[in-house]
Amino acid sequence: MKITEKSFGKLVKLYTLENDQGVQLSVTDFGARIVRLQVPVDGHYRDLVLGFNTVEEYLEKDHFMGATIGRVAGRIAAGKFNINGENYQVDLNENGNTLHGGSDSFETKIWESKKNVTDELATVTFTYTSPANENGFPGNLNVAVTYSLDNANGWSVDYKAYSDVSTVFNPTNHVYFNLDGDPAKSVANHDLQVEADYYAPLDKNKLTIGKKQSVEYSTFDFRHSKKIAEVFEGDNTQNRMVDGLDHPFLLNKNNSQKIDARLVSSDGRVAIDLTTSSPAIVVFTANFGADFNVPMRHSTFNNHGGITLETQVTPGAERYPKFGSIILNKDERYHEHTLFSLEF
Ligand code: GAL
Repeated sequence: MKITEKSFGKLVKLYTLENDQGVQLSVTDFGARIVRLQVPVDGHYRDLVLGFNTVEEYLEKDHFMGATIGRVAGRIAAGKFNINGENYQVDLNENGNTLHGGSDSFETKIWESKKNVTDELATVTFTYTSPANENGFPGNLNVAVTYSLDNANGWSVDYKAYSDVSTVFNPTNHVYFNLDGDPAKSVANHDLQVEADYYAPLDKNKLTIGKKQSVEYSTFDFRHSKKIAEVFEGDNTQNRMVDGLDHPFLLNKNNSQKIDARLVSSDGRVAIDLTTSSPAIVVFTANFGADFNVPMRHSTFNNHGGITLETQVTPGAERYPKFGSIILNKDERYHEHTLFSLEF
């Protein structure tokens, strides 16, 4: 196991965690972000996530890509919520709503970093204190995000946090996978499995509407692995509206199941099994439209050239208690964990 460290631009570092099997996970303190994940396939490195070579490119092209997203990852309708009878109004940055914690949030900050290597585990922990009132959110919030890579080809993301005032907190990571290693190629032929009997439908602004909809007999039924293509081709109005998937899947969390989700490359050579302590996954099939043709590391992105599996509480929980709670009480300890097991 080892970690190498290099500059990733002015004041910004890139850490590459590597295990004895040759898996390389690169992360940066700029947005506590995943930049690159490579595994050896047939003697060549395959690049499994989308990303850019420089901080400037992230800022120009997509500053959310691979980053830690918070304080609240999903959309907050009209940026309003209530905690213990107190009303809050946070920054509005998309159609009169709040997306990804408001403007210039976790993803543009330079986090403190600390690395550690043992024979079996390499970790980098990024910490950031979001000051009270940042983008309108209450409480000084201390956040720690730890990326770990083990020698059994598992990598994980741990979130820990506490606040000096009761607040809301529902972060995620915004890494896009393309297990074929080519963002020019749609993920349509990847196989996806998600252990969810229900998903949350959206309105035209992509806000949840407080409804849990059964996946049965629909394109949203990924309980048995199937090609993603169906969500791009069918006439389901929810898919048509967003041009694919941009939806929360409410995880079943049966004791019998081993994983929460599984993604397999088109050629079947690479797979990722996801297990999370979070209650939902937002699956976004990079529906950026035909005009978003940005050059990435080694090819140019095309529509649907990536897929996110964003672990979190179902967005809208601040309005719809049936989705769970995102309140982090004063001095309470927040801890969520997601493990991604690689097969190649
Ligand atoms: C997703 C969100 C999408 C899109 C994307 C951009 O999490 O659900 O609608 O906005 O982020 O980063």
